[in-house]
Amino acid sequence: MSEAVHTPRVFSGIQPSGNLTLGNYLGALKRFAEAQENGIESIYCMVDLHAITVWQDPAKLANATRELCAGFIASGLDPKKSILFNQSQVPEHTQMAWIFNCVARMGWMQRMTQFKDKAGKNAQNASLGLFAYPALMAADILTYHATHVPVGEDQKQHIELTRDIAIKFNNDYGVEFFPVTAPVIEGAATRVMSLRDGSKKMSKSDPSDMSRINLTDDADTIAKKIRKAKTDPEPLPESVDGLEERPEARNLVNIYAALSDRTVAQVMDEMGGKPFSEFKPMLADLAVEKLAPISSEMSRLMQDPAEIDRILADGAQRARAIATPILQETYRIVGMVGA
Ligand code: AMP
Ligand code: TRP
Repeated sequence: MSEAVHTPRVFSGIQPSGNLTLGNYLGALKRFAEAQENGIESIYCMVDLHAITVWQDPAKLANATRELCAGFIASGLDPKKSILFNQSQVPEHTQMAWIFNCVARMGWMQRMTQFKDKAGKNAQNASLGLFAYPALMAADILTYHATHVPVGEDQKQHIELTRDIAIKFNNDYGVEFFPVTAPVIEGAATRVMSLRDGSKKMSKSDPSDMSRINLTDDADTIAKKIRKAKTDPEPLPESVDGLEERPEARNLVNIYAALSDRTVAQVMDEMGGKPFSEFKPMLADLAVEKLAPISSEMSRLMQDPAEIDRILADGAQRARAIATPILQETYRIVGMVGA
């Protein structure tokens, strides 16, 4: 089915696998909050089933799921306007994932770079779930017939796989049922890099805490991490072109642009030629100004975990109301008696 005939619907997910980072905020959460404001139905999922593709301590997983929910709300998502829920509470995701395991080809899955990165040298010892992960992600998206998926750059390949699965399903069964979903990878910070190494993505799982800014970091920690961020000795260039070969400088400028809702060109007009000794404190002040309210709102929300659980349960119920008929129709198309 072409994209045009499906009602626009936004879906995205984040793993509750530890601290939220500035990368998650600028690449995902901040943009989710913006999408919510343009009136399109939006569904956001704490993907706990994805998280356990690598080992998670059960108590920590539960806490991380609640904290992630607090992070969504503190970043501006309104659980009344958007649907917020945790993946395991809507069983249609895993039911649909099985169907997609039978649509996706081994060769497609073997090309997934996130699997290769996460499995590392010891792929034989990785879980089967880690390998099948992108088929579950396709199920997350397509069980809602979502048409738009805001994500960071690192998820582009998974969205392309989701499109391939939708197209093959539609062809195999001679239907026009699943939409061909569009990735929405926009803004100045679709790939926030490590503060210690401009060639690596800022990540929750980096062993060095100095490589990232966590949404729960206090003002002093944020300022210290930015002050110590790796840079080259030159001042900022005069224009955007001069950032080309300077990944660390470019990363800090991108972060500044995204936090201040300006383009990189606008930031360079103001900051071009400044030494890092001047630019870094300005970036630190801006980061503290934007992130401190989020972190304090998260701590406030975390004081009432029962309320978070109620929000998640309500979201799961509303999500199921959309997912159940789509799964039933999928079963019917596939030929399951009783559906
Ligand atoms: P994850 O934490 O891997 O579940 O990622 C959740 C969302 O945050 C996805 O949309 C990612 O693309 C996005 N994301 C994670 N790290 C970064 C980063 N360093 N820069 C931009 N977006 C990111
Ligand atoms: N794979 C995504 C990540 O690691 C998380 C995710 C799971 C997701 N299901 C999704 C993102 C569906 C968007 C849509 O960041």
